[in-house]
Amino acid sequence: MEKIFVFNNSPYNTCEDMLDECYDEVKTPKKATKVPESKTNNNIFTPLGASNHSNKKREEHDYYATDPKALELLLELESFSNYVWECACGGGHLSEVLKKHGHDVKSTDIIDRGYEGTELMDFLTVTKEDIANEHSRDIITNPPYKYGKEFVEHALNISPEGTKIAMFLKVQFLEGKARKALFNKYPPKTIYVSSSRLLCAKNGVFKEDESSAIAYAWYIWEKGYAGDTIIKWFN
Ligand SMILES: C[S@@+](CC[C@H](N)C(=O)[O-])C[C@H]1O[C@@H](n2cnc3c(N)ncnc32)[C@H](O)[C@@H]1O
Repeated sequence: MEKIFVFNNSPYNTCEDMLDECYDEVKTPKKATKVPESKTNNNIFTPLGASNHSNKKREEHDYYATDPKALELLLELESFSNYVWECACGGGHLSEVLKKHGHDVKSTDIIDRGYEGTELMDFLTVTKEDIANEHSRDIITNPPYKYGKEFVEHALNISPEGTKIAMFLKVQFLEGKARKALFNKYPPKTIYVSSSRLLCAKNGVFKEDESSAIAYAWYIWEKGYAGDTIIKWFN
């Protein structure tokens, strides 16, 4: 029988996922800051301001912006196609890094968070046919953690052979029975672990004095790869 754990009205497949979210709630108390809609990663640190918890929808869709440094470091180690899809782009923190490195970036999200050029799209409903007439693109994102497994599977299912898929996920994503099945079916080619704790900022608000207690890694799949997974460190 499948168990569902519930916290803040959100369902979780595992107790660990639910505890993660509880922990994040404690770590980032409900005094968060309203993010200026036009915010890009030019200056990622935002001063504290008014509460944004009236905007429930944001939290429901799991918005934690990635420290752009995480992608800068990955790009020193991995090369990607010129055409990249940031399929859960949020405030564009990763898209901006990719653009800076000369990539042609398609930025989509289920919610418009004010990032210029965002196409509204539920990634999990996109079909192969929907993208058949477009450039094939590598996929790079930090997906909503609650649907991390679904994002990985879906990205692999709709992409042509050879597509690279890079997902920024917790190191903890390695554990769990369902995810073990995913790793058996689709072994990542490389996992780059962060040896220091990088920040993912709730609602896109990076606070200068905040530190992170969560360990992250970049998981890299190459569609069709069936060998062993190599683990490296990216910082
Ligand atoms: C963890 S945040 C990461 C944002 C951005 N990728 C980054 O790294 O800064 C996850 C994002 O996924 C979006 N999202 C949630 N469900 C989605 C879906 N089904 N399709 C597309 N985007 C989704 C959320 O709106 C949120 O912006």
